[in-house]
Amino acid sequence: MKKIIIATRNKGKVKEIKDAFLDLPVELVSLGDIDSELPEPVEDGKTFIDNSLIKAKYYQEQTGMACLADDSGLEVEALGGAPGVYSARYSGENANDASNNAKLVEELKKLGLESSEAAYQCALTFIDTDGSVLQSQGFCRGEIRLEAVGSNGFGYDPYFYVGDKSMAQLTLEEKDAISHRGEALRKMAVQLKEYLQ
Ligand code: IMP
Repeated sequence: MKKIIIATRNKGKVKEIKDAFLDLPVELVSLGDIDSELPEPVEDGKTFIDNSLIKAKYYQEQTGMACLADDSGLEVEALGGAPGVYSARYSGENANDASNNAKLVEELKKLGLESSEAAYQCALTFIDTDGSVLQSQGFCRGEIRLEAVGSNGFGYDPYFYVGDKSMAQLTLEEKDAISHRGEALRKMAVQLKEYLQ
């Protein structure tokens, strides 16, 4: 059975990935499981796929295990694609969800807008111990509005609407069915299944 290190300490992501790979002959461990003090790699790629590759390569080399890494974020059309790869630290070094959302609202207000088309993106890279690489991407198109609704999810979800509902109003299962991460994971599961045969 192939042992894969998932390059995250986020328990929500670990669960999502384990669920998506339930039928695969893989043993999944996360950074949280291996009790490592590894410093994080510098994610200085220009795209989500670049950053997922940087992370996957780094943790594969550091742990000696095959590795799966993800990178994700929000692109807002009226803001020229921002925050993009800077989504986690949009409002600065000590950014958190609340400060990032406040900045998002402020930037749209500066433009005199009440909404903008937007998309979440997720990129996944798997690297095996022999250097073989598999990659997948997922998209979720929606709209950013100035009004926050809902308390589920995380990050920009209360401001990200698909139809009449914000992502923060959806259950985990509903979000997974339409989300960027759900799509990228389903595509990766298909590729991994074939690769591991
Ligand atoms: P990372 O891929 O975990 O580094 O996530 C980057 C950032 O993108 C997060 O901190 C969030 O701000 C944002 N983001 C990524 N996926 C989602 C999502 O599903 N909902 C809300 N925000 C997200």
